[in-house]
Amino acid sequence: MDNRACKSLILRSISFSLLIAFLFLSTSCKTTTSLNDEDFNNDWLFLKGNVSDAKQFGFNDSEWRKVDLPHDWAIEGPFSIENNARTGGLPVHGTGWYRKHFQISKENSDKIISVEFDGAMNNAHVWVNGHFAGNRPYGYIGFEFDITPFIKFGEQNVIAVRLSPKDLSARWYPGAGIYRNVRIKTNYKLHIPQWGTKITTQNVSKSHAKINFTTSVCNKFKTQQSAELETSIVNSDGEIVSTITSEIILQANTTGYVDQLIDIENPKIWDIKHPNLYKSLSKISIQGKIIDSYESEFGVRTIKFTTENGFQLNGKTVKLQGVCMHHDLGPLGAAVNYRATERQMQIMKSMGVNALRTSHNPPSPELLQICDKLGIVVIVEAFDEWKLGKVINGYNKYFDEWHEKDLRDMIKRDRNHPSVIMWSIGNEILEQSRKDGWKIAKELTEICHEEDSTRPTTAGFNYYPAPFTNQLAKYVDIVGMNYWPLNYQEILDANPNMIVYGSETSSQTSSRGVYHFPIEANEQHQTNQVSSYDGTVGPPWAYAPDVEFEQQEKVTRSLGEFMWTGFDYLGEPTPYGGKDNSTNGYWNTDWPSRSSYFAPVDLCGFPKDRYYLYQSQWTTKPMVHVLPHWNWEGKEGDTIPVYSYTNCDEVELFVNGKSFGKKIKGVDLTPIPAEFHFFPKGMYQSKYRLSWDVPYQAGTLKVVAYKNGKIEAEKTIHTAGKAYQIKLIPDRKTISADGKDLSFITVRVEDKDGNLCPKANDLVKFSIEGKGEIVAVGNGDATSTKAYQAKKRNAFNGLCLLIVKSTTIAGEITINAESDQLITNEISISTKK
Ligand code: GAL
Repeated sequence: MDNRACKSLILRSISFSLLIAFLFLSTSCKTTTSLNDEDFNNDWLFLKGNVSDAKQFGFNDSEWRKVDLPHDWAIEGPFSIENNARTGGLPVHGTGWYRKHFQISKENSDKIISVEFDGAMNNAHVWVNGHFAGNRPYGYIGFEFDITPFIKFGEQNVIAVRLSPKDLSARWYPGAGIYRNVRIKTNYKLHIPQWGTKITTQNVSKSHAKINFTTSVCNKFKTQQSAELETSIVNSDGEIVSTITSEIILQANTTGYVDQLIDIENPKIWDIKHPNLYKSLSKISIQGKIIDSYESEFGVRTIKFTTENGFQLNGKTVKLQGVCMHHDLGPLGAAVNYRATERQMQIMKSMGVNALRTSHNPPSPELLQICDKLGIVVIVEAFDEWKLGKVINGYNKYFDEWHEKDLRDMIKRDRNHPSVIMWSIGNEILEQSRKDGWKIAKELTEICHEEDSTRPTTAGFNYYPAPFTNQLAKYVDIVGMNYWPLNYQEILDANPNMIVYGSETSSQTSSRGVYHFPIEANEQHQTNQVSSYDGTVGPPWAYAPDVEFEQQEKVTRSLGEFMWTGFDYLGEPTPYGGKDNSTNGYWNTDWPSRSSYFAPVDLCGFPKDRYYLYQSQWTTKPMVHVLPHWNWEGKEGDTIPVYSYTNCDEVELFVNGKSFGKKIKGVDLTPIPAEFHFFPKGMYQSKYRLSWDVPYQAGTLKVVAYKNGKIEAEKTIHTAGKAYQIKLIPDRKTISADGKDLSFITVRVEDKDGNLCPKANDLVKFSIEGKGEIVAVGNGDATSTKAYQAKKRNAFNGLCLLIVKSTTIAGEITINAESDQLITNEISISTKK
């Protein structure tokens, strides 16, 4: 907190609750934006390598590569076992320099110039014209430096950024580079600083809500200033619904805080089904001239956590159907992209997800903006390590010096998001096992409470009962347990006032479209692929999703669960690798496995069968799914286990029109091989899956789902013939001509009749013409070491993905896909301003 801060003197406040004007605000990719912010992402120069003097103004960078930000140098590869499979086998280490030449006009020489990074991976050091502006070690945190003293107004300036990420700074793929957005700000000396609004709501009812604004105003003049702060609330139609104006006086060189209370009538409440949002517009003027204008997005909602009714959003209990997610965007790496993030969360929502845990670090601002928009509640997590490290170059090295600032900044940045419901102070922190571990938990919780009194703190504990005996659990408001579903009740019985949930659950693994017979627990198939029968394959603490479903149903007081993980991510290729813990290279033992198998959705966003298992538990719109595929040439007459997932009452299975009978959900159980640290080795009886043993015969596999005796959903799979053609299916046919928007094109290898060939691995080559470019390809195979930034890709079990980006010129994009043995496909998509 600014130690020069003082409370500003509010002379007079006038408020208008009537609709007084229409105002149309441009959509922006930030939830707080100032009139004086400018995109600073384009035309950087980049060099991978350690060069002396690159911070100096006159350094010769003429040979450096031109890049636009956000940029992740590591995703370009190449994959190598030398880079360590644990972090994705990609070069996340080394020194990277970024330089940008820029001008600030002479007219702005009385302004404050600052540069804001949403995050840089990692250990950022920043110089302007050879002067050191500041550094920030933690790659996930946003930061800003005042660079006014170093600027040459009306002349060339150079900003130089040095990043020096090291291998094994994380247990997953962290990316490398200036991988989040950057802005330059030209502020009047009196202005609203970074993260300058704090918006909370009170007395929320259908007819009324009171909105509290605390706005920071920074006076960098050498004299006292009088000004006016006008705060307006703007609804989603762009109408101003309420305004308040306060006259303020600020002493020289101080930051003051202005409290304003604004009423809104008939507020549109933010909730999961209707994520209604408002914007506040804060304007500072001196003698009638507006000198700063600052937008913040917020929502009107109440949250409550109770021992009896769990998590309550606007007074109603919501069971958390959550996922944990790492921050990478698959083939695009860690470089933030709004559309790629939005697509991930839309896919999660379609599976029934209503909650997200940003494991194990502060997310991009875009992710929270998207969760606000889609109606997904979020636990924002700060750290994976405190003082005790888990990897050789982890955050523990910086914890002492930086944790307070990092934690406070995380909260300041994210506190206005209606989606954010808890602050997590750590994941599986090793201090759980220390007698004095509670001291840090207490300190961190107190910091969170100081910054935000409206949200509880939490942590994900994986030891039991250590965090209880060592009291860490006492120093968080809500207790998250990682992988202890059978102990929720015991914990609650022993601690009746505690509120508990599954902060990390299941850790089941599988590969899309892969099936191994017989179904086994913890099989280690030599192909490095995991069977999609989901028979408890994973690390020793893993268990089938079904076990968690059952416990969540039984222990109604649990807030819900956060399954590990929503999307597959780069790095941590469990269950391959990681068997011998003796050296830092131990994750390489099963190379080329280089990305995770944990999720119900692969690295490209294609659903695995498990996606439908979650959907059957988490959604109500009638659905039914059947597995495996029906191409078992050579196994004619052999018994094939067939599973079906549904949210209806019962399912009937047909093979080539012949019924194999109806199975009733919850009554007909499916035995799943279990090897879970709580169970003796054996069979777990799942009431969430229906199954049949069927003699294989090529043709048609069909499931029909009934609710109250009525057919509600059906799914049919045909034995596919020979691979014949390519089919391109874009997720959106029209995208924005902004040089950032993406079309994700599913590439299917099909037979003559349009059936997916479930074993096809043909190499598909792409070409593109018009107003777009190919930015990445992928196929969801966790063992592929082929480059993502390429124009060709093999299908993996019938599918691959092509990602196309718009240019800033509107027009058509034509995409062509061909393969030696297949009929070519060509499609067009349009880009619009
Ligand atoms: C947890 C950990 C996660 C991930 C997961 C894999 O213990 O918190 O980050 O490693 O295990 O099962």
